[in-house]
Amino acid sequence: MATIAQQPVLQVNNVSKAFPGVQALDKVSFRISPGEVVALVGENGAGKSTLMKILSGAYRMDTGEIEIEGARVVPENPRHAQDLGIAIIYQEFNLTPNQTVATNIFLAREPERAGFLGRLGLVDYGRMREATAKLLDRVGARFSPDALVLHLSVAERQMVEIAKALAVDAQIIIMDEPTSALGREEVEVLFDIVRNLKAQGIAVIFITHRLEEVFVIADRVVVLRDGKYVGEMPITDADRDKIISLMVGRPIDQVFQREMIPESDADIVLEVRGLTRKGIIEDISFDLKRGEILGVAGLVGSGRTEMARAIFGADPIDAGEIRIAGQPVQITSPLEAVVAGLALVPENRQTEGLILMHSVEMNVIFPNLDDLSNGEFVRQQYARGVVQQAVDQLSIRTPSLQQKTRYLSGGNQQKTVLAKWLTSDPKVLIMDEPTRGIDVGAKAEVYVLMDRLAKAGIGIIMISSELPEILQMSDRILVMHEGRAVAVLDKAEADQEVIMSYASGQEQQ
Ligand SMILES: Nc1ncnc2c1ncn2[C@@H]1O[C@H](COP(=O)(O)OP(=O)(O)OP(=O)(O)O)[C@@H](O)[C@H]1O
Ligand SMILES: [Mg+2]
Repeated sequence: MATIAQQPVLQVNNVSKAFPGVQALDKVSFRISPGEVVALVGENGAGKSTLMKILSGAYRMDTGEIEIEGARVVPENPRHAQDLGIAIIYQEFNLTPNQTVATNIFLAREPERAGFLGRLGLVDYGRMREATAKLLDRVGARFSPDALVLHLSVAERQMVEIAKALAVDAQIIIMDEPTSALGREEVEVLFDIVRNLKAQGIAVIFITHRLEEVFVIADRVVVLRDGKYVGEMPITDADRDKIISLMVGRPIDQVFQREMIPESDADIVLEVRGLTRKGIIEDISFDLKRGEILGVAGLVGSGRTEMARAIFGADPIDAGEIRIAGQPVQITSPLEAVVAGLALVPENRQTEGLILMHSVEMNVIFPNLDDLSNGEFVRQQYARGVVQQAVDQLSIRTPSLQQKTRYLSGGNQQKTVLAKWLTSDPKVLIMDEPTRGIDVGAKAEVYVLMDRLAKAGIGIIMISSELPEILQMSDRILVMHEGRAVAVLDKAEADQEVIMSYASGQEQQ
């Protein structure tokens, strides 16, 4: 492609960055041309986000050089990086929910400039609206500049973030795991936006753990491992195995096939009848057996997370009955749920899954304090052993058990949330997108663990947007559509097409 032969718009030379106990980046070099899409891949903790945070002014590099269009620059802070033409779209968005789209796009531009709020009073909202409408058009958004951000879906908020980047005339747009919270169709829409940015000559750096996306969207793939650049290839030369063996430094066997299916007369650990939260989930009923993995499929917004939260007592319900191991239970809070033998691995690790200012150790033992802390020294040693074991099993990359979880990479935070529940001993484990943000190698480890927990008799509910994962791990599959359970499929009768036709409401059981 002609564009790729152009002069790079961005050139990074030998950039290094250390944190206490970790060399996050070790002399990494990288370049990207206008109109090029580069996929940046690597295991959890490889240094991808750190490199992007340096480019976007959130961190300062220790050593190294950055050039934009041939000129040396040092992004001092996010605002300065924007002025240099670099914008980043984080997964945890920086939008103000109770403001309009237009206000978010333009307020974000100069939030700290003196007198701006004063001038805002004089701003011609009509012109701001008009400019916003043009930007929204460039990203193919169909909502109004006047829409409140809180009413937008994750995918739509992402569009606002991208429009914001266009508003500051970014030449380089960084997307750090932009697809991890999106459903299939939304990913397609995002890809169209990326192609559009590419056509406008913008360079896009795209980070993802879903390798199949790399082949769809990237021109070139760059691999980091342990903070080092280990190689790259044009997408035309790339295949999945090549990328994975560069990422992990060895070929891995990532196909894990669950074989055990619980006996048809296995005890039922969880019965849900008529679970309803008005306007959100409607009359959901199902059974879960001991040792069973029940996959929950559905489009984003179909009520899967809401169902999990309702069962777990995190949201109030209007009707419904729940029995655990045959006993009716009234669960009105997560604490009661835990006491009743339920555990929930939430979808959003940062806001619900972890106490970020606490250590890995504290976070992992927190749900188990009753079991593990009788105040005795022996118990403490035992607790530490249990935590260390969980950390090893999931290969959580952390300089020590005492590290605050805030400083772990995204995928390692997710693994810590998993570890927290693996060390507890629930009857029913609900996992909401358990492998989101987790690298290919670690995914296989998570599957092995889930299988082991099921074999130990725990009933598992696994919500996932990744159909291959649903098909690979589930014994039965519950499909949701608009707040209802529209089908429960046996493993044998399920394939991607059948699931999608129920999930999209084309078929009713
Ligand atoms: N602010 C920080 N303080 C201390 N250590 C940090 C900090 N930020 C990152 N690290 C460490 O630097 C290393 C690289 O982390 P980074 O977030 O760049 O990984 P990543 O490639 O984005 O991983 P993931 O795929 O899990 O998101 C990790 O070991 C991480 O724990
Ligand atoms: Mg990251």
